Formats: sequence, C-alpha cells, structure tokens
Amino acid sequence: MKKYAILGFGVVGGGLAEVMADQKERIDAAAGQELELGYILVRHDYPDSPFRPWLTRDFSVIERDPDVAVVAEVIGGSDAAYEYSRRAILAGKSVVSSNKQLVAEHGMELAALAREHGVSYLFEASVGGGIPLLRPLCRCLAANRIDQVYGIVNGTTNYILTAMDAQGRDFASALKTAQELGYAEADPTADVEGIDACRKTAILADLAFGWNVDPARIPTTGITGVEPADLELARALGYTVKLLGRAARAEGGCCALVEPHLVPLDHILAAVNGVTNACAIRGSAVGEVVLCGPGAGAHPTASAVAGDIIDAVRHISDPVVPDLGKPGGVLVPADSLAGPWYVRAEAEPAAVLAAFPEARPVYGASRECGFITRAMTRGELDGLCDGLDVRAVWRVLA
Ligand code: HSE
Repeated sequence: MKKYAILGFGVVGGGLAEVMADQKERIDAAAGQELELGYILVRHDYPDSPFRPWLTRDFSVIERDPDVAVVAEVIGGSDAAYEYSRRAILAGKSVVSSNKQLVAEHGMELAALAREHGVSYLFEASVGGGIPLLRPLCRCLAANRIDQVYGIVNGTTNYILTAMDAQGRDFASALKTAQELGYAEADPTADVEGIDACRKTAILADLAFGWNVDPARIPTTGITGVEPADLELARALGYTVKLLGRAARAEGGCCALVEPHLVPLDHILAAVNGVTNACAIRGSAVGEVVLCGPGAGAHPTASAVAGDIIDAVRHISDPVVPDLGKPGGVLVPADSLAGPWYVRAEAEPAAVLAAFPEARPVYGASRECGFITRAMTRGELDGLCDGLDVRAVWRVLA
C-alpha cells in the first residue's frame, strides 16, 4: 500500500479526489498495489465535502508521513506550489503536477532535484489537460527528431474565437459567456493575453528540442486584438482564426511564438472548436501526428494527473523524470520566421496589388479588405505595407 496526497482542492484537486475514488479498483490494479488517499491540503474549510476526513491545512503532516509516496500538486501559481513541490521531493516523495506555470518556470530545477533524490517528477496534465500529449511526445515518438510542435493549447481563447466565428460575436461578449460558463477566470488575463498558452508552448519546446526555454522570452500575442472583421474576412479567404502556440527546431536552438493565426478551413486544427485543445507534432519518422481532446476541466485534467500518480507508484524503484532540456538554448527571433501573412487594411484593390501582386483581396461589410501574402519575414512585410492603411496583421499557418 502507498499513500498519495493532493495539494489543492480547487477544480482540479476536487476532480482528482473524485476520479481516484470512483476508479479505485482500476487504479490500484494499474499501479500494482493499493493506493490510499492520505491527505488533501486545503486553505479553506469544506464542511460539506465527502473528503472532509482527509483535509489538512498543515503541509508538514504530509511531508513527515513516510507512507506518502506521491504528492499531486494541483494548487497552481508558482509560490506555495514551488515551495511544497521542493519540500516533497526533499522528503523523498514523487511529485506530479498539473501546474504549467510552475513547470515552465521552475520545472528544470525541480526535475534536477527529483533526479538527485531518486523520485519521479511528472506533469502530463500541464499541457493539453486530459490529452495524453507529453508521454507520447517523450516516449512513443522518442525515435524521431522532432522538427515542430504547434497547436491550440488554451481552451478559453479557443472557446472565444469559436463563438466569434460561429456567432459573429465580438470579443467582449464572447469572453462574458466564457466567464459565465466557468471556462474563463474572473481575471482572464493569463488566458486572453496568451500567457497560459506561452507557458505550455515553453514546456512543449523543452521536451521536443532539448533546450530549456524561458517562457518570458517567447514572443506572445493574445486574442484581444482579433476583431469580428478578421473572422469575417478570414472565412471569405478560406480560413478561420486560432490562437496557436508554435515551437520549431532552428539552427542552434529553437524558435517559439504564441500568436493568433489564420488556419486554412481544410486543416485539421480548423475543426477544433470550443474548449477543445489539439497539438500537432512533426517527427522525422512518423510525419505529423495530431493529438486532440479536452484541454481543461476537472475530470479530464484529473485523468492525466491520476495517470502520473499511477506511473510514479509503478516506478518507485526506477523514477521517471522527463528531460526538460539544457539551459541556455538559443531562442531564434520569431520575427525572422518567414511565412505567409494575413493583412487587413483599408485600401483599394489597386493599392494592395501594387505592393502584393500575389494577393487576392476580399472585401467584407466595411471598406476594409483582407488578403494573404506570399511567404516572407515580418520585416519584409512591414516594408511592403508602408503605404497601406493596415489595421491588423496575423500569421497564416502554411
Ligand atoms: N485556463 C486554461 C485553458 C485551463 O483555458 O485552457 C487549462 O490549462
């Protein structure tokens, strides 16, 4: 028998306690021994919770209990979560986490500490929620040189863009509905400004390319600048708009960015709607693999965390710590990444064609037009746009 502890009793912590209880027999069988809930670390009282007997406010009780083999950190943020993760590892316990901020900012350090202390450090739920994504990337695709990973890694923004596209809504009204449905936080900044997607992209880049990427150095643009006109013009051009996190192998390191992109309507990512996430991985042997599923939510995220708990217990004597890369990888400036661009401008067709002979501008309800350029760098694009009244520029997924 081994005990596990859950740190945090919010959406994911509550979901994890439920999934572990509901599927106990199956989980014990998969772990090869009985797993018993030891503690749930909380900051508030939950007088009506069926898990009340396991609640504690004192982390040191968990830290000192020798029967606790695995600690599931589902607190979020990087303050208490970091401190408790460190202390758990130092106490000889494996740590599993759904916390993308902590993994992106301190994962390399915690992974090194876990290796030093002979315990596992796993974080499958930190990217793509319930989608099995990091294990396939690190293990099933281990024979591949990974050249690119890209995808929709934030459910809230995908919900908002889907509502803007399908219902012609503006950003503010789609965000309000996302908040009412519990997808977006009361303070939606981390989602809508792309910060959450940036952290997840950093983790994908770490695992895919072997360089530890500082999320603060990933150029990140959220969706607050996407207007209904962009979705209308994009559709007329045969595209939809998605917030993509992208990381690609580059000379001496990798290149990563988070930006709204125009995605061709016949691309698989164009059909990924609502809070669903999807991530494409391009490997040298396999070609392109796309993994898709629920990117957030209590039980989907708990499914991934529970899988890590089982894995950690199965590997007590040969711990598993994914390689989050070496420090100091060169992050090639994303601005040099050439590709086609979407431009929205208030311009006559002749003016557009004078600068972009390859363009086929389309006009929507207003005097603005949208067009797609040939592949070029952002610098080249800015030069060609010089005489045009440009309102928006987004990358196009080619
Ligand atoms: N806020 C995140 C999202 C939750 O909307 O995708 C899952 O990481």
